[in-house]
Amino acid sequence: MSEADKSRGIVLILAPIGRDATAIAGLIDRAGLCPVICKNPQDLIENLDRVIEVVVVAEEAIYGSNNLHVLEGWVARQPPWSDQPFIVLTHKNESPKLSAFRRELVIRRRNGAFLERPLQAMTLQSTVLSAERARKRQYEARAYLEAQRGAAVKLEQLVSERTADLESANSKLQEEIASRERAQAALLQAQKIEALGQLVGGVAHDFNNLLMAVIGNLDLLSKRMGQDSRFGRLLDGAMEGARRGATLTQRLLAFARKQELQTQATDLRALVEDMRDLISRSVGPLVRIEIETDQELPAVTVDPHQLEMALLNLAVNARDAMPSGGVLTIRLTSQVLVGDPQLGLPAGHYAVLAVMDTGEGMDTETLAKAVEPFFSTKAVGKGTGLGLSMVFGLAKQSGGALRLESSPGAGTTARLWLPVAAEPAEDLEKTPILAQNTARAKILFVDDDPLIAGSSVALLEDLGHEVTEVHSAREALQLLDGGFLADLLITDHAMPGMTGMELADEIRRTRPHLPILLATGYAEVEGSEVVAVPRLAKPYTQEQLAIEIARLLPKR
Ligand SMILES: Nc1ncnc2c1ncn2[C@@H]1O[C@H](COP(=O)(O)OP(=O)(O)OP(=O)(O)O)[C@@H](O)[C@H]1O
Ligand SMILES: [Mg+2]
Repeated sequence: MSEADKSRGIVLILAPIGRDATAIAGLIDRAGLCPVICKNPQDLIENLDRVIEVVVVAEEAIYGSNNLHVLEGWVARQPPWSDQPFIVLTHKNESPKLSAFRRELVIRRRNGAFLERPLQAMTLQSTVLSAERARKRQYEARAYLEAQRGAAVKLEQLVSERTADLESANSKLQEEIASRERAQAALLQAQKIEALGQLVGGVAHDFNNLLMAVIGNLDLLSKRMGQDSRFGRLLDGAMEGARRGATLTQRLLAFARKQELQTQATDLRALVEDMRDLISRSVGPLVRIEIETDQELPAVTVDPHQLEMALLNLAVNARDAMPSGGVLTIRLTSQVLVGDPQLGLPAGHYAVLAVMDTGEGMDTETLAKAVEPFFSTKAVGKGTGLGLSMVFGLAKQSGGALRLESSPGAGTTARLWLPVAAEPAEDLEKTPILAQNTARAKILFVDDDPLIAGSSVALLEDLGHEVTEVHSAREALQLLDGGFLADLLITDHAMPGMTGMELADEIRRTRPHLPILLATGYAEVEGSEVVAVPRLAKPYTQEQLAIEIARLLPKR
């Protein structure tokens, strides 16, 4: 086929008898189409699979042979857009058999036209041309369908790509929402605890001051009462009540992170080992105690006595969770953190004190509330609900963290992170300095609360000192500026106008030799880095007061 032929519609011709094929081909060629003569039905069928426009078949070529079935098979298999036009050339022969064959052809070959021979050139050419046009339309339809299918496939692909993108974006969003919710819940919890801390801290501080007055006066009273056992018992009861109150306020102040901490580099392993007996007695014979420690355990910065209290609180909680016995494991490890926002800890080196029990555990609700002050599931009188609050506050105030893990029936683990100390551990102070009798000293006493000032002055006078009482830092400075000679200044910290620490600062500059004792129930004394002033935690007893005075005025 020449290049020119390719653009012309192809017409297959099957007319094997005589010169029909050549004559038809000539006519078709003249009509502007491209005739292709097939030698036999097989040849025709093979050519049908090419792109062709029209088929011209002489009926005798397919009559009474198997070729008709093959052709019919091909016709039936055409795709939906295709309806191949056939032009069947007939004879004048009207035999019944042939008529039946033609009827059959009409029915089976959907797109067939019959032309009777001898053929009129015009008739053949116009029939073939109109069949060719119809076929061209079919090809156009095919091209259109294919283009559409291509577009649909592309669209489908695009849709599935976009769906995948959306799904991944969606799951990322879900993750982010979940993590945001978690962070928000943690923040809310932290804010709640913070607000509680503020409230509790304020109340505890004021209460502590009141107890100062109660304890101070009871202290003096019991001394003055002498040996009268009847009153002695009553006084002891009152004193015991006040002391318990003081313990309570200490725990509250610990929770509010407002207690006076005496931090030092502490050897955790020694501290825990030293407490083994006490813990063992506290938890009773049904609970086995196991202590596991890392070989290399660095010292931590903590108030050792407060940490002992914390450990005891955790051990007692473990005991209460194991009424019929179990195992209490205390494990000491060290950990380097790259910063843990969940724990609220900056990057650094920490020691971890874990207290684990095999007890009843806690459900999620209890676990969420466990550190809140006054939350207790224990019977009235059995628990104050301040144990964990104290541990939590101590951890926070020491620059560490507390985390509880628990589920019902699976025991509880309380983990306490404490920052590792820069220096090696100091020896624990085991023997307190005994109160010595100091010579009569001239003491300037400053406290804005006359109730407390009164009781403290009485304690001091009872110790034999000469006390001048003022109610503000300004008054104290005025006295000193006016030439008042004092051997010692004892001052409260939290006072309106000028704080005890500011007063101490001022005096350090102008009178460096005047010893100062800061009596406070409050931590976070601003300026404590600037001047290290000896402190006395409120509420104090006369004996504690005497010890501190002896420290400051030892040689008198
Ligand atoms: N190891 C533990 N196993 C199971 N539950 C615990 C454990 N530790 C604490 N809890 C739960 O948390 C609550 C609060 O504990 P927390 O130590 O603050 O107070 P408490 O033990 O009830 O009283 P307190 O310690 O003041 O005597 C407990 O009442 C208990 O329900
Ligand atoms: Mg407890």
